[in-house]
Amino acid sequence: MSGLLEGKRILVTGVITDASIAFHAAKAAQEQGAEVVLTGFGRLSLVERIATRLPKPAPVLELDVSNAEHLETLPERLRQHVSGLDGVLHSIGYAPPSCLGEPFLDAPWEDVATGVEISAYSLKSLSTAVLPLMGEGGSIVGMDFDARVAWPAYNWMGVAKAALESTSRYLARELGPQGIRVNLVSAGPVRTMAAKSIPGFSELEAGWGDRAPLGWDVNDPTPVAKSICAVLSDWLPATTGSMIMVDGGVHSLGI
Ligand SMILES: NC(=O)c1ccc[n+]([C@@H]2O[C@H](COP(=O)([O-])OP(=O)(O)OC[C@H]3O[C@@H](n4cnc5c(N)ncnc54)[C@H](O)[C@@H]3O)[C@@H](O)[C@H]2O)c1
Repeated sequence: MSGLLEGKRILVTGVITDASIAFHAAKAAQEQGAEVVLTGFGRLSLVERIATRLPKPAPVLELDVSNAEHLETLPERLRQHVSGLDGVLHSIGYAPPSCLGEPFLDAPWEDVATGVEISAYSLKSLSTAVLPLMGEGGSIVGMDFDARVAWPAYNWMGVAKAALESTSRYLARELGPQGIRVNLVSAGPVRTMAAKSIPGFSELEAGWGDRAPLGWDVNDPTPVAKSICAVLSDWLPATTGSMIMVDGGVHSLGI
């Protein structure tokens, strides 16, 4: 039986540990037949070491989404490995410590601006950078934590995610005519490095498993990885500008 992503060339950003959502998405994508290229930020030798734990070898390219030269040279560096791209996973988020857990009212604009640039504007930067390789259309997927409501501790990262949600809708509008779909997977809490850096993450994850109609395991990134692969595949061909909720159903509850 052929895999869901057989013949697809997928760029996966955001691997930093083997707990990263991106690592599990890359693994599931390879298991479904995709050819995967990774990008890493900063600690490249670490990302290369983590990449060896994937079922198949995957090249690692350096990409800081706020570095204009990295973005500009991305297509030629990608072409050394793949002739084009059918899918891209943006699994990137960062905000300085003042934006998370600290009093919401205290974060200075410079820190908020960094959070919005790295976590939201970068979806546009990455999409623009890869466009030359997506001539035949494809799927761009970003990672969200439902920003339609206010959470404990998530603070300005929540504001950045709201900007990401809006950015994905405008990108969907702009890139739809080229056959490119842009969607977000809005995940429930998963224990990763980024999650652990949120003081108060335990408050966010507390009770999620009990509340979720389908249950939820914060130590199991597989449901999120599988859903990312589904959105990267050809099986949601008329879906763009959407948030796909992958949270065990918590978003659908009142109390
Ligand atoms: N873990 C959760 O509970 C959860 C829930 C919903 C959404 N998300 C989102 O999933 C995505 C991946 O996070 P994760 O939880 O797997 O954590 P993670 O720490 O494994 O991944 C975050 C990634 O962002 C990358 N990054 C940071 N700054 C960058 C930059 N300037 N350029 C390029 N890459 C940069 C890091 O290198 C890292 O690989 C993020 O967008 C996060 O907000 C996470």
